[in-house]
Amino acid sequence: MTNLWVPPDNNLAIEIKNLSKIYKNSDSVHPALNNISLKIKCGSFFGLLGPNGAGKSTLINIIAGTTIKSEGNVKIWDLDIDRFRKQSKLAVGVVPQELNIDAFFTPVDQLELQAGLFGVPKNKRITSKILDLMDLTTKSNAYSRNLSGGMRRRLLVAKAMVHNPPILILDEPTAGVDVELRKKLWQNFKELNDIGVTIILTTHYLEEAENLCNEIAIIHKGKIAAQGQKNQLLSKIDQKILIINFQKKIEEKLKKEVMTFGEVDFNNQSCNIKYKPSKVTINDVFEFFRSKGIKILDIKTRDITLEDVFLMLTKD
Ligand SMILES: Nc1ncnc2c1ncn2[C@@H]1O[C@H](COP(=O)(O)OP(=O)(O)O)[C@@H](O)[C@H]1O
Ligand SMILES: [Mg+2]
Repeated sequence: MTNLWVPPDNNLAIEIKNLSKIYKNSDSVHPALNNISLKIKCGSFFGLLGPNGAGKSTLINIIAGTTIKSEGNVKIWDLDIDRFRKQSKLAVGVVPQELNIDAFFTPVDQLELQAGLFGVPKNKRITSKILDLMDLTTKSNAYSRNLSGGMRRRLLVAKAMVHNPPILILDEPTAGVDVELRKKLWQNFKELNDIGVTIILTTHYLEEAENLCNEIAIIHKGKIAAQGQKNQLLSKIDQKILIINFQKKIEEKLKKEVMTFGEVDFNNQSCNIKYKPSKVTINDVFEFFRSKGIKILDIKTRDITLEDVFLMLTKD
């Protein structure tokens, strides 16, 4: 499958500026996105990470053109969605959060139907190629109701690809999918990214973002809480974890002093200190315990993980 869309000069698949969304119902006003700006490079595998209710689907649906924004600008492949509504829509394929598969149509029928909706002429259709790419060839002509859960998910991805868009958006594609199947889906997504498709994925599974994405934005309560290359995001965080085992239990009156080093969890004869390397050295900690005559049996340090970052940024 070749990608006919040449990247725009700015090499941005998506560019979002000061985007806000307020849902207004008859009796309530609900702010869901608050002044979001984001740049997603062509070819990247971008993870939009956040807890439930953070605003991920709202953001995706605005890009997809199914939710109307309240304020701000969105460009897809350098096409402003207000000015170039139709063309910009052709640049994305969206796999929505809810499963929408017609049980009585075969995968081939569904892809042909979808291609028709997108106005893809018969001689330009790539139905069998997409089915092949999504490992569905053997089920091409089976009733969709007979497909397994994983196959249905893959069929949804296939449906989003009928017009050969350069950007694929996946909204929680593996929610409720078991571990084995999840890994298979990841493989399919990676293959699509390898052939040049820009992938934007929302997830609340950290492991998923950690495995697949090279760029990540963490969204919390409608705002971007952190954004960057996955590795940078981790190195920017000034925090390490020190785990110490002592010969005996730490006395209550000392605990307060230990807590000046950072965030501390005390267990029986050990403690877990989350400290800032820019402010505290391991030596400070050792010296402290030595001065109090407390014997250390063993220490371990641990670098921060994406999960720590996520929990830190989304805890309130
Ligand atoms: N159609 C709607 N009307 C009113 N509020 C909505 C609507 N859709 C979503 N919301 C609210 O907007 C917030 C963001 O929702 P959503 O974008 O679905 O979050 P996520 O996908 O991250 O779980 C939530 O508080 C949700 O309840
Ligand atoms: Mg959602």
